[in-house]
Amino acid sequence: MKIIQVKDYQAMSEKACEIIVERMQELEKPVLGLATGSTPEGMYECLIKKNKEGNVSFKNTSTFNLDEYVGIAEEDPNSYHYFMHDKFLDHVDIEEENSHLPSGLEKDMDKECKEYEQMIRDAGGIDLQVLGIGVNGHIGFNEPGTPFTKETHVVELTDSTRKANSRYFASIDEVPTHAISMGPETIMQSKEILLLISGENKADAVAKLIEGDVSEQVPVSILKNHENVTLIVDEAALSKTKIK
Ligand code: GLP
Repeated sequence: MKIIQVKDYQAMSEKACEIIVERMQELEKPVLGLATGSTPEGMYECLIKKNKEGNVSFKNTSTFNLDEYVGIAEEDPNSYHYFMHDKFLDHVDIEEENSHLPSGLEKDMDKECKEYEQMIRDAGGIDLQVLGIGVNGHIGFNEPGTPFTKETHVVELTDSTRKANSRYFASIDEVPTHAISMGPETIMQSKEILLLISGENKADAVAKLIEGDVSEQVPVSILKNHENVTLIVDEAALSKTKIK
């Protein structure tokens, strides 16, 4: 894993944006894996700016998001569909039919999981997957204990994740109990991974990732088995890690 240490959130966002633009210029039909959360917001702002300035175009780009809550309407401001349109998709020149998020509203969720995997395969696989992490080391919505062999699946959210994400909802009771998420195996099939981590509340997870073993109890640790991962991490997130 290549580690790029940066000063703060702004520097992390700009570095991630720079790497994505570089890759997009190399690829004829880029397939990006995208994430939600406050971590990638600054990166999306930077990508929108680069697009508006004419430095990068998303016309030939396809995107696949990691996850979505189960049971929330797409137009609900707490859905990841809404987040992605609001923070990124509606502000760049991507073709509507080329942006994909898993649906948390299907009757047959197993079928939806299989179809999402197939859509990724049909697009030729993900060239570059952007990831954040949860405070407990989850990636996507793959909570500690998720078998590394899982592809897209329905997950039950832990109390700690529901609590962390309740900041967007009126109360914790409104936070869904389940989500649909690419699995660790789906993520590992991406050709390249960009892991973004910022802030002191992620410092424990970063220490476990950098100093600990690969373990299903720390979902992000699976990335140590991937050949092409770049971690962009800021000083606050590194504050509990000995190797600096
Ligand atoms: C959610 C998402 C993850 C994200 C995590 C961290 O649980 N499913 O993909 O990485 O939150 O979010 P934030 O970047 O807001 O800390």
